Amino acid sequence: MADEVESPWRAGGRRMSGAVDPWQGDSHLGEVVVAEDVLDKRVAELGEELTNDYDGRPPLLVGVLKGAFVFMSDLARAIRLPVEIDVMAVASYGSATTTSGVVRIVKDLDSDLTGRHVLVVEDIVDSGLTLSYLRRSLLAREPASLEVCALLVKEGRQPSRLDLRYVGFQIPPDFVVGYGLDVAERYRNLPDVRVYKGPVPVG
Ligand code: IMP
Ligand code: MG
Repeated sequence: MADEVESPWRAGGRRMSGAVDPWQGDSHLGEVVVAEDVLDKRVAELGEELTNDYDGRPPLLVGVLKGAFVFMSDLARAIRLPVEIDVMAVASYGSATTTSGVVRIVKDLDSDLTGRHVLVVEDIVDSGLTLSYLRRSLLAREPASLEVCALLVKEGRQPSRLDLRYVGFQIPPDFVVGYGLDVAERYRNLPDVRVYKGPVPVG
């Protein structure tokens, strides 16, 4: 009988006993920056904070695709309020690792933001340029309020103070993947956040 390899990896919070970690031996993956149980705990805390802050005025969650899809899915279920969900997709001109600050809306929202309590859900803030652009663009639509919930913020990378009301984790300024974050569309389904040590494609 073949040896049963006991692998501790989890997916969606459920233990996958007997499953092999598909990223085992991937030399491009470095250290775990935020472990799965730590993510779970922090998302639950943010959910509780948001539940309290938005009591009586359920927010419209605006997820920024594609990176935020995993975080938004978990966060939405951690908020005990009848939230509504919308998504938008943006593309920045520049290389894969740096942003030029010129952002293009690739897919706009379906919802009218007028008078709504809008909570932008972002995966990661690096230079902050994407977020500054988004904030300006969304504020012009006259929401009743606009706040940002970013899972990850890279330390020391933002030239000016960003008004980030909710932050999951401050992390070192390495390129990271997992929990929605990709390199060339890969690693989004990695259940934790890890340093990416391989070549990051430009384009
Ligand atoms: P910013 O405009 O420089 O803040 O860049 C933000 C966007 O760049 C994020 O929404 C991500 O899509 C992408 N990004 C920045 N850093 C990383 C990273 O370490 N891994 C994956 N994507 C990243
Ligand atoms: Mg990306």
